[in-house]
Amino acid sequence: MKDTLAILGGSPVRENAFPSRKTMGEEEKEAVIDVMDSDCISAFLGSPGEGAWGGPKVLEFEKNWAEFFGYKHAISVNSWTAGLTISVGAVGLTPGDEIICPPYTMSASSTSAFFYGVVPVFADIDPKTFCLDPESVEKSITSKTKAIMIVHLFGGSANIDALYDIADRHNLRVIEDAAQAPGTTWKGKYVGGLKDIGGFSLNYHKHIHCGEGGVLVTNDDDLALRAKLIRNHGENFIDALELEDLTNIVGGNYRLTELQAAIGIEQLKRLNGILNSRRELVSHLEKQLESIPGISSAYVHEESEHAYYVYPLLFDKEVIGIERSQFIEAVNAELPPPTTPEDIALSGGYVKPLYLNKIYQEKIAIGCKGFPFNYHSDTSQNYAKGLCPTAEKMYEEELLLSSIIREPLTTQDIDDFINAIKKVINNAKFLK
Ligand SMILES: Cc1ncc(COP(=O)(O)O)c(C=O)c1O
Repeated sequence: MKDTLAILGGSPVRENAFPSRKTMGEEEKEAVIDVMDSDCISAFLGSPGEGAWGGPKVLEFEKNWAEFFGYKHAISVNSWTAGLTISVGAVGLTPGDEIICPPYTMSASSTSAFFYGVVPVFADIDPKTFCLDPESVEKSITSKTKAIMIVHLFGGSANIDALYDIADRHNLRVIEDAAQAPGTTWKGKYVGGLKDIGGFSLNYHKHIHCGEGGVLVTNDDDLALRAKLIRNHGENFIDALELEDLTNIVGGNYRLTELQAAIGIEQLKRLNGILNSRRELVSHLEKQLESIPGISSAYVHEESEHAYYVYPLLFDKEVIGIERSQFIEAVNAELPPPTTPEDIALSGGYVKPLYLNKIYQEKIAIGCKGFPFNYHSDTSQNYAKGLCPTAEKMYEEELLLSSIIREPLTTQDIDDFINAIKKVINNAKFLK
């Protein structure tokens, strides 16, 4: 029975569970207790003066983040979804403008545009980086295009030189969604907001987290001020700061608490260790993948270092001889059941290309009358199936994802994963 596939009744490659991720330590616990003892759980006030920019932990966290990532400004927010919305507002987009987005990403990368009446236009992805394809971006530009949303997916960098070049030539603002990419580099610098503004998620699933949260980064003083004002009731600061340009200064409450910031300070200290551990596991994984036909390992641009939020693989159905869904099911059957949804050894497809979502298909986003798609009389935005063939192919056929590269997993865990893959490939004929 040793060689019989587990899915066909044989013994699995491994039965004992993979070690679970443990994200909080004594340091975080003590930091939280210190904040509790101080009784200052948030020091923000929505008006000029003391408290306008946050309490001591928020300010310390932002200073540390800016220093670590090499940005002039780091601005904490209570989710990266909020950070994306703030970015769209801060760069001055207004109703009827268009922003070019990738369709292969978390939904907020494009829905953030709606809150300012901005229309997402989708360009295809590059099949190697899974991030925006510069050629497709250039073809998607219209007279209404005002910005590009670059997403650094799975922890890998988009080709930012080519995308920044397009932005420069067409006078477009750039927002970067590096939710999954804290520690990803391009030409030795940390990606995040190298051109205009962007940032990171601190939700529970990310490399480091504070439950929910995010951090914007920028080197631009004006964008930093606008982002801070949108984070915290900017309308109340207009007189005190003698603001002349009131575009999008109406603010929300997107503030991080002192408790979250205190956790964030400790988590940031762990980031390098997490990145090193993931990179070592990937190096072990990739050596073994070399000998496996039909499965290709992740591409990393020569100018970049990957942060491995998850590990992307490409599946070649012609070589392996079975459907991707059969392959995934058979490999997972060889391995212990996941203890949490994110521990799953192998999954496929990532997300349905965003334009196939009903809000785009029916063009109903804000209100029920077609805003912002109908802000201009021309409502011919294309969200039809077939719009971004590479993203659709990744979703339907080719992409595999694994979280087997996350700490505290070891090279032994990777070996079991590889043995499961090999066993399924060697026995694929029994699944046909
Ligand atoms: C690419 C991407 N963008 C945006 C977000 C939203 O971040 P948050 O959950 O912090 O709001 C996520 C979160 O998973 C993400 O992966």
